[in-house]
Amino acid sequence: MTITRDDALQLDAADPLAHLRERFDIPDGVVYLDGNSLGAPPRGVADALAAFAGDWRRDLIHAWGTAGWGTLAARLGGRIARLIGAAADEVIVTDTTSGNLFKLLVAACRMRPGRSTVLIEAANFPSDLYIAQGVCELLGLELGYLDEGAPIDETVAVVVHSHVDFRTGAIADMAGLTERAHAAGALTLWDLCHSAGAIPVDLTAAGADLAVGCTYKYLNGGPGSPAYAYVAKRLQDQVRQPITGWGGHARRFAMTRGFEPAPGPARLQVSQAPVIGMVALDAALDAFDGVTVEALRDKAVSLGELFVALAAERLPGLKPASPGDPLARGSQVSFAHPEAERILAAVAEHGVIADFRPPETMRFGFAPLYLRHVDVYDAVRRIADVMSA
Ligand SMILES: Cc1ncc(COP(=O)(O)O)c(C=O)c1O
Repeated sequence: MTITRDDALQLDAADPLAHLRERFDIPDGVVYLDGNSLGAPPRGVADALAAFAGDWRRDLIHAWGTAGWGTLAARLGGRIARLIGAAADEVIVTDTTSGNLFKLLVAACRMRPGRSTVLIEAANFPSDLYIAQGVCELLGLELGYLDEGAPIDETVAVVVHSHVDFRTGAIADMAGLTERAHAAGALTLWDLCHSAGAIPVDLTAAGADLAVGCTYKYLNGGPGSPAYAYVAKRLQDQVRQPITGWGGHARRFAMTRGFEPAPGPARLQVSQAPVIGMVALDAALDAFDGVTVEALRDKAVSLGELFVALAAERLPGLKPASPGDPLARGSQVSFAHPEAERILAAVAEHGVIADFRPPETMRFGFAPLYLRHVDVYDAVRRIADVMSA
């Protein structure tokens, strides 16, 4: 039976999270299926940035205390912790995902002296591959690729893995892989960029050791917003990261000679906190107030399933490139098409924004905080028009 626009509108009428779209400022007529690359702007962000400028002007350097800038990194870490199954004092907001990966990867290798290998997936996000390569060059270690058959054995110091694959959306078995790594005495370092805020993540239940993630995708912190790093409590005293700037010092303002790492994940900071980005992120995270990740997940599954069903009906040229089981993929659905780039450029002119990953992947993200079922319907209709033109 053909799915109609009314069917989509009915799904929206029954959606318990429909009101959350009001928390965002999305241009009329645009269907934004790229929130898995850069989230949409939450309404509170512009006001928060204006207030920040006012605090700065009024209190000048004292605003580090009066406006709470000095404690933002830890406070935001605590807000993100609830979305990734961590304790508030296991997460810090700082730097970029790539930078945090570098610091934690070096720290992980230092925690496993004498081990010769870092394991990663060749399919991982390129920056993760490049950082792992750089760390191996720096420390004289081997880089092995899990998906090319490298074993998890007693030579492995750390396994680096994305929780959700950026191309296919496939969800990794975090608990299973962590258990295998631990059985060989290795640590795990998870990249949560494509999971936090979109699918339930439970670092604690999985026994994960270390993790990194960005805040500009499903967390809507804005372009270049600061990333976060997680260190399980049991490892926090052992983590020795290589960029020992004053930001990670236990007594930054004592201005002493030797480096003493701050307690907890705060030692992963390097220098001045990116306050403007953190102020925006703080306001952006308000969009998650009163919402459970489980409810967001249910809605994202419903949106993704509608897209898949409509694509099967109306976009016969697209080849599925994501797991068919909605519970085995994150909040995105990918398809392959030899003309993916051209099609996406053409639909963008009709207000449908999705993204292209070379050589021929179309990636459609379903950010459950602000997308409606009718958006999904309209997007597929416009893509079908472009493909049949
Ligand atoms: C899975 C994954 N890891 C790492 C990165 C890089 O993040 P950053 O730009 O914060 O270094 C991205 C960026 O899109 C990503 O998707």
